[in-house]
Amino acid sequence: MTNPSLLILAGDGIGPEVMAEVRKIIDWYGTKRGVAFDVSEDLVGGCAYDKHGTPLHDDTMAKAQEVDAVLLGAVGGPKYDNLDFSIKPERGLLRLRKEMDLYANLRPAQCFDALADFSSLKKDVVAGLDIMIVRELTSGVYFGEPRGIFKEGNERVGINTQRYTESEIERVARSAFELARKRSNKLCSMEKANVMESGVLWREVVQRIGDTEYPDVELSHMYADAGAMQLTRWPKQFDVIVTDNLFGDLLSDLAAMLTGSLGMLPSASLGAPMANGRPKALYEPVHGSAPDIAGQGKANPIACILSFAMALRYSFDMGAEADRVEAAVAKVLADGLRTADLMGPEGGSPITTGQMGDAIVAALDASL
Ligand code: NAD
Ligand code: IPM
Ligand code: MN
Repeated sequence: MTNPSLLILAGDGIGPEVMAEVRKIIDWYGTKRGVAFDVSEDLVGGCAYDKHGTPLHDDTMAKAQEVDAVLLGAVGGPKYDNLDFSIKPERGLLRLRKEMDLYANLRPAQCFDALADFSSLKKDVVAGLDIMIVRELTSGVYFGEPRGIFKEGNERVGINTQRYTESEIERVARSAFELARKRSNKLCSMEKANVMESGVLWREVVQRIGDTEYPDVELSHMYADAGAMQLTRWPKQFDVIVTDNLFGDLLSDLAAMLTGSLGMLPSASLGAPMANGRPKALYEPVHGSAPDIAGQGKANPIACILSFAMALRYSFDMGAEADRVEAAVAKVLADGLRTADLMGPEGGSPITTGQMGDAIVAALDASL
């Protein structure tokens, strides 16, 4: 048996800071659980641009296609904001998603008991919350053609195109229905079928897949704007939500605040199964490179650590170990440990990124 392989692309800003804490967990698995991962590291985003003049070198792309799973930190930063669009750090991430064909982006939003008081919403609205947003990740307005900034008469026009084929909708719908079956058998699909043809097709196709393949799953549809409102009004009405690329981007940041902080939200981007039966996969926190706090030891590493837990669950068939990591996170939060993003306006004494990682490792030790 060969060791499971991981490619770490820590990226920019707080990416390397939070990834250093994930390394502690990976090392813990090697020394304490006898699970050795073959870990390689490479560049993505601004740091790749600085070295190679491109946010994702072809060699890195090729490596990503070969490993069992990619772990990504975050990309981007003000230093790169004025670069040509085609070489911006974010293009490196989008290329990974597109070329690995990672069409199903799982973004769970779970409110840990210890943080129920901390959300900007009332405690009873978020306590016990555990929902899953499935965001389509390789199509829609992020990738549709035509796109660009063009000259039209005396002015310029910026164009992006929302485009979905039936098969793109079908495959992400199936991913969401499968997840719903493993959870509460409930799926809500969100689009804007009232104003967009792509939304009309989305709704039709999701309904057909439901009727023909998943009649046991309770399916509902909602306009995405109303969905945003319902997510803040009473999020516990939802279990699995399936939506397109752009709406999923927005709704998952919104969902982050139900859990307390963007620093808490992990994600898994999954594609079709590889020859070994594992899905093509990339795991990354939902947050970005957080330039405002980069280099200060303030970043919350939990989103990235929980992304590694998702890798254990979805790429390595180690669901019980994923539960162990999640329980370790719950334990340190219950013990009152907080990074700065989890402090209320009244303040307190936050711990550093490194201290949070160490505390989670100690909780893992205690779990043995
Ligand atoms: P951001 O997620 O980086 O930051 C938003 C706010 O949340 C900031 O105040 C930040 O300090 C805070 N925050 C985020 N993660 C945190 C963490 N782990 N711990 C504590 N606080 C945290 O979003 P932004 O400021 O809109 O974008 C900054 C850059 O990151 C941009 O270049 C953007 O394109 C990029 N970005 C990258 C990704 C990614 O790599 N997946 C995702 C989103 C944004
Ligand atoms: C995310 C980010 C990305 C997106 C950017 C950085 C390309 O916001 O992963 O949520 O828009 O998908
Ligand atoms: Mn986003």
